[in-house]
Amino acid sequence: MRMSRRLEYLPPYLFVGITKKIAEKKAKGEEVISFALGDPDIPTPPHIIDKLCQAAHDQANHRYPETEGLPELRQAIAGWYKKRFGVSLDADTEVLPLIGSKEGIAHIALCFIDHRDFALVPDPAYPVYSVSITLAGGRPYYMPLTEENNFLPNLNAIPAYIARGTKLLWINYPNNPTSAVADLDFFNRVIQFAQQYGIAVCHDGPYSEVVFDDYQAASFMQADGAKETGVEFHSLSKTYNMTGWRIGMVVGNAQMIDALKRLKSNLDSGVPQAIQYAAIEALTGAQDCVQEHNDIYQRRRDLLIETLNSIGLEAKPPKASLYIWAKVPEGYNSVDLATELLEEAGVVVTPGVGYGRSGEGYVRFSLTLPDAALVKGLSRLSQWRSTKGWMKKKK
Ligand SMILES: Cc1ncc(COP(=O)(O)O)c(C=O)c1O
Repeated sequence: MRMSRRLEYLPPYLFVGITKKIAEKKAKGEEVISFALGDPDIPTPPHIIDKLCQAAHDQANHRYPETEGLPELRQAIAGWYKKRFGVSLDADTEVLPLIGSKEGIAHIALCFIDHRDFALVPDPAYPVYSVSITLAGGRPYYMPLTEENNFLPNLNAIPAYIARGTKLLWINYPNNPTSAVADLDFFNRVIQFAQQYGIAVCHDGPYSEVVFDDYQAASFMQADGAKETGVEFHSLSKTYNMTGWRIGMVVGNAQMIDALKRLKSNLDSGVPQAIQYAAIEALTGAQDCVQEHNDIYQRRRDLLIETLNSIGLEAKPPKASLYIWAKVPEGYNSVDLATELLEEAGVVVTPGVGYGRSGEGYVRFSLTLPDAALVKGLSRLSQWRSTKGWMKKKK
């Protein structure tokens, strides 16, 4: 059997290794507390599940769905954008449901990237952006996200010859893994830059509704010229705890949406219809659950931030997202620290370098574990720290 070259260069997905390590520990009877995955532990709200069950019983939903999704779902997505962001979208040409946003994020590379084309990709970042560019035969050009620049890419640092060979630009705010946020001014600057070089922008915004205190995230689609320049990927996964149902969407530039629809109609058969009805219920039904979830995450955020800072893993409270991006203490790199925490404390975190070279020096903590596990994890972290008398104490 001879596999493709493309597969040879494909690294195993970041979380496959982590999940394997957790399984090995569990098989030895050890209890592991995982802060690794951004997968909500809170169930999908009951009114959404009820709709799903009801739709599953309807035989009309037992057959192949259409790639472009039910018109009612596209209307619901357009309606949600109007209500939430004041953005008007044509439900027929500017909205496309996805089998989870990861699917669309991965596929759009095939609509743009030819051999050796560049795509501008943040570093650190959700790994799917760069992997899909590489699979399509292109070259990711990394834009470092540094604390000095508030984890925003410095567009002025991109050489003109790279920008001229670039077809796609990825951005993601609220950001995974750094939890940084961006305002409309930043989105406007991205659009100006992209228009100068004829680059299509892909903004990935699945965390726009996971916000704390009084913060409100902006949509890329609110920026001037967004529809002429790019699209926004979004998801029901994080807002409504629907990771397991696999449903997301892309909205914006009609030409880009049409290209992705054409590609997808050749590769998949769309989102199962019962799940589409559940998504309509999520987007159009009662929204109290969103604030309820955020209250839970905010409480966990505060507990985690307090412990991390007290044990020398410096971290600022994020305004949004499900993550805390904590600095590794002196004398460690991110893999050393993650390995030691697993071995000595039975606590799983994600090493920052797994998201790209500029992620070195950080580890990511997710807020998606039940309160009891979180409290146990925090106590283990404090205990672990107490054995490290030599580690610098925070001033
Ligand atoms: C930045 C980012 N984009 C997209 C996704 C994928 O979400 P979905 O469940 O819609 O595929 C994730 C999931 O963790 C993510 O962190």
